[in-house]
Amino acid sequence: MRTLKVIDLFCGCGGFSLGFDYAGFEIIYALDKWEIACRSYKANFPHVDVHCEDALNVDPKDIPNCDIIIGSPPCQDHSVANHKRTHDTSLINWFWEIVRKKKPKYVIMEETPLARDYLPPDVPKVRIYRMSDFGVPQLRRRLFAGDFPEPKKQPVDVIFPTVLASEYRRGWKTSRGGLSKVFRRRSLIPEAKIVQTFPLDYVVYGTLEEQYAQIGNAVPPLMAYKLAEAIMLVEEGFLEVEWW
Ligand SMILES: C[S@@+](CC[C@H](N)C(=O)[O-])C[C@H]1O[C@@H](n2cnc3c(N)ncnc32)[C@H](O)[C@@H]1O
Repeated sequence: MRTLKVIDLFCGCGGFSLGFDYAGFEIIYALDKWEIACRSYKANFPHVDVHCEDALNVDPKDIPNCDIIIGSPPCQDHSVANHKRTHDTSLINWFWEIVRKKKPKYVIMEETPLARDYLPPDVPKVRIYRMSDFGVPQLRRRLFAGDFPEPKKQPVDVIFPTVLASEYRRGWKTSRGGLSKVFRRRSLIPEAKIVQTFPLDYVVYGTLEEQYAQIGNAVPPLMAYKLAEAIMLVEEGFLEVEWW
């Protein structure tokens, strides 16, 4: 059977791609405008054609045809003077324009659950999954939209606490009795990789802040694998590589 070809739009350091790679798909093209993330991506996927440029400057004709499109276009939140929030959906719209042109068999777009109200009306399926239901040791929820089979659940018992940057910097937390000092620290890079289910030897370049951003922004590779596994099971009825 032919290996299905995947393109990853807004690929970051490659969390989404990694799950598809593990499941046996062939990633042929990846795009992101952030140079350091592209370097990380390239180090982990040397065979992939990585394009480091602004999506809005890319001619759709230069994006190859494929069987599967995955991607995480940012949906930016802008505060405006009257304190109403607006959302810049230009990159989400660009993503769906590419989907309409390329007509892949499967599409999965990842977003923050807040983006639910900003999706184009023709998106066939929208799901919000809690990561801990799919083997990822965190309570965070993420939205997945497109055309894809349901991933198999694999609940976890262990949840790692996340320390927000603001908590970490202040070292203080308000409790009902007043202020109490908290001695929580931000995770180390290997801990961030574990919480996000990256292998410890996954290459991430840049300053510490840049590494945290790349790892934290990523689709957890195990969640990506679960989504990829569901497609592989529909297509082939079996998987050559099991995650665990
Ligand atoms: C949520 S992150 C992607 C994470 C990635 N899916 C992963 O699993 O590792 C969103 C990415 O969009 C990229 N990005 C933002 N605006 C962009 C633009 N105009 N063109 C291309 N990439 C852009 C950012 O650099 C960032 O890496």
